[in-house]
Amino acid sequence: MQMRILVVGGGGREHALCWALARSPRVSRVYCAPGNAGIRASFECAGISPDDIDGLAEWAKREMIDLTVPGPEAPLISGIADRFAERGLKVFGPSGKAAMIEGSKSFAKELMAKVGVPTPRFEVFDDPVRARRHVSAVGCPVVIKADGLAAGKGVSVCFTPGEAMKAIEDAMERRVFGAAGSRIVVEEFVRGEEATLMAVADGDFAIPLQPARDHKRAFDGDVGPNTGGMGAYSPIPSLDREAVRDICRTIVRPVLAELLRRGTRYTGVIYAGLMLTDRGPVVLEFNARFGDPETQVVLPLLKTDLAGIVIAAVEGELPRCSVEWADGASVCVVMASAGYPGPCEKGKPITGLELLGGLPRVHVFHAGTAEGPRGETVTSGGRVLGVTATGETLAEARDRAYDAVSFVRFEGAHYRRDIASDAAGRPVH
Ligand code: GLY
Repeated sequence: MQMRILVVGGGGREHALCWALARSPRVSRVYCAPGNAGIRASFECAGISPDDIDGLAEWAKREMIDLTVPGPEAPLISGIADRFAERGLKVFGPSGKAAMIEGSKSFAKELMAKVGVPTPRFEVFDDPVRARRHVSAVGCPVVIKADGLAAGKGVSVCFTPGEAMKAIEDAMERRVFGAAGSRIVVEEFVRGEEATLMAVADGDFAIPLQPARDHKRAFDGDVGPNTGGMGAYSPIPSLDREAVRDICRTIVRPVLAELLRRGTRYTGVIYAGLMLTDRGPVVLEFNARFGDPETQVVLPLLKTDLAGIVIAAVEGELPRCSVEWADGASVCVVMASAGYPGPCEKGKPITGLELLGGLPRVHVFHAGTAEGPRGETVTSGGRVLGVTATGETLAEARDRAYDAVSFVRFEGAHYRRDIASDAAGRPVH
């Protein structure tokens, strides 16, 4: 049977998901809600917000959608999988309860501690006075995390007691993240190389995807404010296939098995945000979804049909899947609007996109784009485009991605010049 798939969301990750799912012979049509200008150019989009779960469910029922793939975390944590299931609709994504591994940092940390998954030492606080006393006792650097969802802004790495006290005050007293900051996790600061490992999971079984590295800071040299991600590359030279299998066996599967033991079956993508330290990989966070921009570099290297893997997961047949990867590497450079990650201007015309259509091994995934009044493509958000290229090596993929970026223009565009430069000279596995 050929399937009709709905992707929920409107960023670069969702564009990459639509693109990868549509290549499948098992998929007749891919839809997106709400999408963006780039997604709309190739796929039918419904103007429904990812937060309008009832609206999405009604639309999916009416359009006879066979499977829904949510991109962002908010609908997952709000229970899109549960509410769709009540209406007989299938979702590739965890239940609201299982998505708490992303929705509550303290839940995830306590789960990891229970099953012995390596994670930085931590304490959970509901009281700012006790939190301050703890920080004074342990000293800096220290990481302060709002427990709940804070639009990617709830983590503060504090190098001085003053920064730590301010982070506690902002989260718990000034409530800059709303209710998400009423509880905080105070975590040991660990050094190392960051890595993302996503795995497709069902129950206690998981198939790892290729690892990727995201560049979270706004400016070259890893300085400036944290962003959703200014670029990414895959694979990571320091994580060979055996290391990836080990992380899946010792980190991802024990967490899934503990959830299952508690009666919470996890189906979907589980994202482990790791620090590769000299005492081995430790988990900084789990997310309940595909990463962005990591998905934009991982999917172009996937040789196996993504839809086949996703369908196998929702049908309980994941152990029968084998997943193959193309040789080589992939690099994504995010082009952002002036001001990002703060407030940014919108509606700036984007030129040069038509020149990228014919470039081999280049994929332009749209994020914050919309149609302007004359049908032109304009900026409509912070992260505007994920310009991705593959190559035999990271260096080749990187050169190709930056060549492609040089064709694209919009007022105020900014992007990092050092994506993958930490790894570009190193061989990949
Ligand atoms: N790139 C970070 C994330 O997807 O959470």
